[in-house]
Amino acid sequence: MKQSFRALALLAAVFMLQASQAHPTQTRGEEEVDYRQSLYTVMAGNFHPLGAMAEGKMPFNAAEAKLRAERVAFLVPMLKEAFPADSNGVGHTAAKPEIWKDKDGFSKALQLLIDKSAALAVAANTGDADKVKAAVQETGKACKNCHDKFKVKDKD
Ligand code: HEC
Repeated sequence: MKQSFRALALLAAVFMLQASQAHPTQTRGEEEVDYRQSLYTVMAGNFHPLGAMAEGKMPFNAAEAKLRAERVAFLVPMLKEAFPADSNGVGHTAAKPEIWKDKDGFSKALQLLIDKSAALAVAANTGDADKVKAAVQETGKACKNCHDKFKVKDKD
């Protein structure tokens, strides 16, 4: 009885060791890139329905627009913390080194998105489809402005 328990414990220990080796420890920079890309994915996932409503590909729904716009406005300022220096040039990042070379230019591009997404949340709270559409377009321009300057084109 005791022996079979020991054998089982040993087997569990071996299994756990293998499982941990299957996911080799990431470097700090790699974790930061994953965090940043995840943040963009969640933010963009909430922005897309707004884009679809603005382009008439999805019927306008005031409650949905308000929910999505508030989420985007909440998530965007978190990007301020998502570009630590040791994530520059790491692995699969599409972030250009210019982000860290031209810190002022990058901060401005990010601030533009922060301002436009805050205005989008205000517009979405009015429930007015035209106001939401205009604010979505302005926000989309802020995305493109930064991607053109600071994101590698052929990645994502
Ligand atoms: C201030 C600059 C900036 C703004 C503004 C910006 N982005 Fe990005 N975005 C980036 C950079 C840089 C990356 C690359 C991140 C990486 O790979 O490390 C990126 C990556 C992404 C990705 C890919 C994430 C992944 O999984 O690799 C998506 C999607 C995205 N952005 C959507 C958007 C949308 C939608 C907006 C506007 C609502 C936006 N971005 C605004 C700079 C910006």
